[in-house]
Amino acid sequence: MGRLGGFPAILLAQRGAQTRSNAMPSLDFPSPVFFVRELDVKLTSSSGSLDLYPLVINGLVRGIDRAYALCLAVKPIRVGDTAMVSIRYADHCFQLEEQQSVLDGLIDRGADVPFSCRSGICQTCLMRATRGKPPESAQRGLKDSLIQRNYFLPCVCHPTEDLEVAPPSDDLAGMPATIKALELLAEDIMRVVLECAAPIEYRPGQFINLHRDGRLGRSYSIASVPKLDGHIHLHVRRLPEGRVSRWIHEELRIGQTVEIKGPAGDCYYQPGNPEQAMLLVGTGSGLAPLYGIVRDALDQGHAGPIRLFHGSRDRRGLYLMGELRELAGQYPNFEYVPCVSGPEVPPGFAAGRAHEVALREVPNLKNWRMFLCGHPDMVKLAKKKAFLAGASMKDIHADAFLIDRGAAPVSAPTP
Ligand SMILES: Cc1cc2nc3c(=O)[nH]c(=O)nc-3n(C[C@H](O)[C@H](O)[C@H](O)COP(=O)(O)OP(=O)(O)OC[C@H]3O[C@@H](n4cnc5c(N)ncnc54)[C@H](O)[C@@H]3O)c2cc1C
Ligand code: FES
Repeated sequence: MGRLGGFPAILLAQRGAQTRSNAMPSLDFPSPVFFVRELDVKLTSSSGSLDLYPLVINGLVRGIDRAYALCLAVKPIRVGDTAMVSIRYADHCFQLEEQQSVLDGLIDRGADVPFSCRSGICQTCLMRATRGKPPESAQRGLKDSLIQRNYFLPCVCHPTEDLEVAPPSDDLAGMPATIKALELLAEDIMRVVLECAAPIEYRPGQFINLHRDGRLGRSYSIASVPKLDGHIHLHVRRLPEGRVSRWIHEELRIGQTVEIKGPAGDCYYQPGNPEQAMLLVGTGSGLAPLYGIVRDALDQGHAGPIRLFHGSRDRRGLYLMGELRELAGQYPNFEYVPCVSGPEVPPGFAAGRAHEVALREVPNLKNWRMFLCGHPDMVKLAKKKAFLAGASMKDIHADAFLIDRGAAPVSAPTP
């Protein structure tokens, strides 16, 4: 442990400094700093008038251009700010406890509100403030049109003023979609083909929220490409006690109608730099968005190398291998590498975890565009390693398949 007492630094970028969740601001120091793994520092504003922020550094230091940057995982704690905030919802009015999110406050009081990831990603918990202003950090990832209408994500909302909140208005109600096909792609992965009641505009790799009923919805990434597939394709992995995924695998039937919301998310192919090399890493059903992104990129004429690493513990967890090998035969700039992390690695498969194999094969990621999808631990680790290997944060697109960890202990990442 050490201290950076009074060391001058310029704030380069700041994301979520007002949230209590982990954020990643970058500090640019005028002279090289030493490598730090864990460090306890305090920040003051130049005027000295702001609160102190005790910060815990998870950090890493790497040359960015000619400056040095120190990335901090920040948990801001307001010093001396004890003002209580009250929330009004339907007929209830209550005070939020310190560190409590609006969602947790609502659930504690028995409000029947939907939620899933509890991490500000899936947008299942979307609400609007009918009075008061939600913090910007609770609106991250929302469309501008929603922000303008005071929509926010209560699971990551720690307001600084009183709020009156309400469910989304009717114009944001979901859309009915009919199940056109259900096909087992692997032992525990189901392809769900949906036909929407009206056409929806989406980018392959974005996600939709599929609802089992009005209160129970889950995010699933879109594997289809509108021009190539017609309907929406999802790959759903069955979790042993999964309320929605198990229902999809065991009870959902062709011809049935479900409600979907979205699309949302920014993990998709953007044309504009067709020569840029692309590295895609996915585990399990994390192949879904990547399958959409790869086919979309190839269809749009991406000319740079595209390398896809799909990982599973054993061979049975890998799927769509025939289609991906065929695609690799068709497009010389596309390479597909199936990876097996368990002890038995059949010939033709790479041994090891997908992100480790990928980084072994491409150790220098400067100027590469990255897509990381699947198990949250893999995504987090791969993101960090990709950054250390030279990838720029703006070129790293990721979707961690977060689930509600409150339900039961989460297993270790498999692949
Ligand atoms: C942006 C986004 C995109 C997503 N895209 C996809 C996708 O394309 N395909 C897909 O299959 N999922 C995807 N998910 C995850 C999906 O939204 C659900 O969280 C998942 O299907 C579980 O929901 P459930 O209702 O079945 O499980 P829940 O009822 O919410 O929980 C199930 C139980 O499983 C346990 N559990 C948690 N993780 C694991 C694990 N790794 N192995 C075993 N048990 C576990 C939990 O502790 C809990 O007890 C995505 C999530 C996000 C946020
Ligand atoms: S965004 Fe709030 S539960 Fe997922």
